[in-house]
Amino acid sequence: MEAEKVQKNGDDSAIIYAKLDTRPPTIVNSNGNYLITEDGQAILDASGGAAVACIGHNNARVNDAIMRQLQSFSYIYAPFFTSPASEKLAKMLSESTQNQMSKAFIVSSGTEAIEAALKMARQYFLELPTPEPSRSRFIARRQSYHGNTLGSLSLGGHVARRAPYTPILTTNVSHVSPCYPYRDKTAGETDEAYVARLAQELEDEFQAVGPNNVCAFVAETVSGTTLGCVPAVSGYFKAMKEVCDRHGALLILDEVMSGMGRCGTLHAWEQEGVVPDLQTVAKGLGGGYTPIGALLVNKRVVEALNKGTGSFVHSQTYQGHPVACAAAWEVQQIIRDDNLLENVRNLGDYLGNRLKERLGDHDHVGDIRGRGFFWGIEFVQDKTSKEPFPVERKMAPLIHATGVSKYSISFLHGVGVADGKDGDIIQIAPPYNATKADIDLIIERTVLVVKHVFG
Ligand SMILES: Cc1ncc(COP(=O)(O)O)c(C=O)c1O
Repeated sequence: MEAEKVQKNGDDSAIIYAKLDTRPPTIVNSNGNYLITEDGQAILDASGGAAVACIGHNNARVNDAIMRQLQSFSYIYAPFFTSPASEKLAKMLSESTQNQMSKAFIVSSGTEAIEAALKMARQYFLELPTPEPSRSRFIARRQSYHGNTLGSLSLGGHVARRAPYTPILTTNVSHVSPCYPYRDKTAGETDEAYVARLAQELEDEFQAVGPNNVCAFVAETVSGTTLGCVPAVSGYFKAMKEVCDRHGALLILDEVMSGMGRCGTLHAWEQEGVVPDLQTVAKGLGGGYTPIGALLVNKRVVEALNKGTGSFVHSQTYQGHPVACAAAWEVQQIIRDDNLLENVRNLGDYLGNRLKERLGDHDHVGDIRGRGFFWGIEFVQDKTSKEPFPVERKMAPLIHATGVSKYSISFLHGVGVADGKDGDIIQIAPPYNATKADIDLIIERTVLVVKHVFG
């Protein structure tokens, strides 16, 4: 196995990189699914960055839509004015849920959508005909990620990301187990028994913090980078929703990474038999053309606000930004016009099956899981005991670095999936318009990278 080689060449830059003295490659151009560096290297973007670039780069239709918006007006302040672009986008989002999520609050990132969700959940209980001001707590899951501001980081359950900031995080959040069959389902346990156990754990947590104190249970519908593309076992979300309903709490589904088509349906919850009370989306909404995220609000929450104060006590300067909305609208039209969800569904299983065929037997591949165009490979030291590599070995960053420098492929990588500290994954999240040949190329290069790093 290779030791990580780090190029320390960022000292002359004024940018704060992930590592202050390490400048990542500079991208100067793009070509469909490839990023072109200043040295002319074409890097296959196998994860759309952080599962963002869902229709590839430099799409002429989206570029034109952005220009048309800029040539009419670039910015308006949301409390004073609205725009056709934001109205159209919000309507499309609502209609995509058959108006079950009847309104959208459009912001500039996934984190901001989560922050808005937390405030909306709290406000909902204050607006009820009989207000419930005791509800201030949230129950989320370990090995989860919901963003990096203090509120959203408090919600997340990733030990290492929280560690430096623990003393300044909010204390109104507690965490239960994720749905993580690879490590947590016991030998011989059926899906039903596993779900029942997780539902009981959630019930116990409600009881521990006081059922009338809980605003919401929050989960990623399909887990992102802190667990690595893990879909829940069948029946899990229905069971979790039942616990929430029993105690009058809301269900918040974070689809910042897994939503907007990534898993083969526009909303990942469509495959779970539940409708959330609040939902966050972001990455696949604008495909990376502009920063954008949204909170989608169930009609029952909207009705409570309508009958209450009639307002949401929250706003942001760039809320409903017209250029971001125009870009996202066009991205969504392309997904619809080109039947891209169908493509994700058709080729998603192919991608997963080919990964399993080519890498499933590898000594250091513990698990391959995912849905649609959202697949994770979890690496282990020992396949039988499932012992993860210690974080100090930096295996996931090494896989990423090797991919970029030696095989011109970029994966999203994550560390801490096993317990919040140790455990390495890479994620493969191709653009929705990837062809079978594109998938084959991604798999070829992935196999080369894994063999290079692990032998
Ligand atoms: C599930 C999930 N929620 C929230 C966020 C935060 O989104 P952003 O980085 O756009 O603020 C992310 C980002 O990776 C995410 O994966």
